[in-house]
Amino acid sequence: MAGEQTFIMIKPDGVQRGLIGEVISRFEKKGFYLKAMKLINVEKSFAEKHYADLSSKPFFGGLVEYIVSGPVVAMVWEGKQVVSTGRKLVGATNPLAAEPGTIRGDFAVDIGRNVIHGSDSVENARKEIALWFPEGIAEWRSNQHPWIYE
Ligand code: PPS
Repeated sequence: MAGEQTFIMIKPDGVQRGLIGEVISRFEKKGFYLKAMKLINVEKSFAEKHYADLSSKPFFGGLVEYIVSGPVVAMVWEGKQVVSTGRKLVGATNPLAAEPGTIRGDFAVDIGRNVIHGSDSVENARKEIALWFPEGIAEWRSNQHPWIYE
């Protein structure tokens, strides 16, 4: 379905290292559409909410500290199978295991500095988009590009 949406976040390390344009470029060149974007500092309680499913993990505290350590770029991307394909563009969670050609494979080393987050399912994408963009998303393109989508 062309209208599928995913939530992508460039984490504080990605922002500080100047990788915002690189990430956007990769998603755009693939054929996905940027539907919403904001650069924000999130509160600890908000980061804990975003990662609530991981609250029992030993790395939870460090992960939350990392996410609140600087501004992040929150984005909504749309396109055919963008959730699963977006995860492929992002690469494996552990950057050392991520394939070259993926964002984490090309730009990261440590799991606790892995540059980017992407929703892992359509259902979680819906939840994350609602959490990060409670104000809603402006409509700007109703038709997919005919040279990308048949
Ligand atoms: S798990 O343990 O299987 O649930 O974790 P996983 O699905 O691989 O990753 C979920 C998110 O937790 C982050 N993560 C970590 N952060 C810091 N340190 C360690 N050791 C660590 N392990 C996992 C991982 O980057 C995922 O974050 P997001 O933002 O969702 O990519």
